[in-house]
Amino acid sequence: MSRAAAYARRAAIAIALCGFALAACGKPRELTAVERGEVVYRTNCIACHNRDPSVPGPLGPAIAGAPRALLEARVLHAGYPPGYLPQRHSHTMRALPWLDGHLGDLTAYLDAIPAHHPG
Ligand code: HEC
Repeated sequence: MSRAAAYARRAAIAIALCGFALAACGKPRELTAVERGEVVYRTNCIACHNRDPSVPGPLGPAIAGAPRALLEARVLHAGYPPGYLPQRHSHTMRALPWLDGHLGDLTAYLDAIPAHHPG
């Protein structure tokens, strides 16, 4: 092995070890509500809604900024809050009652995404 190659290899190992040490010593960080909400969204909603909640998905409308009352009515009961004017009049979305307990995180995530207001 040439000197240069040996040096490069030692440097690469040193860098890898640094990375490992950082990973090993850094305290595991708690996810924020927004990050947890993003996980809930990605795992439960994007079959129908867009991966980017500010634009419509294959089936579901854009829901960025959806208030908690709407999420609760829709996700837990497949309904709408009293007086709410739904974006769609279909009834494709079913209730996902097991997400009770994640609504705060979901709301935090959807609230953090700026809504697009096309026309
Ligand atoms: C099976 C497909 C599907 C899944 C999964 C789904 N949705 Fe929907 N969603 C829809 C459709 C379609 C609509 C339009 C109304 C209808 O057909 O029920 C809708 C409507 C909504 C609305 C009302 C929007 C408005 O302003 O009228 C909200 C809020 C919503 N979904 C949130 C969610 C969230 C949050 C999840 C994940 C936890 C989710 N949906 C999962 C298909 C889905």
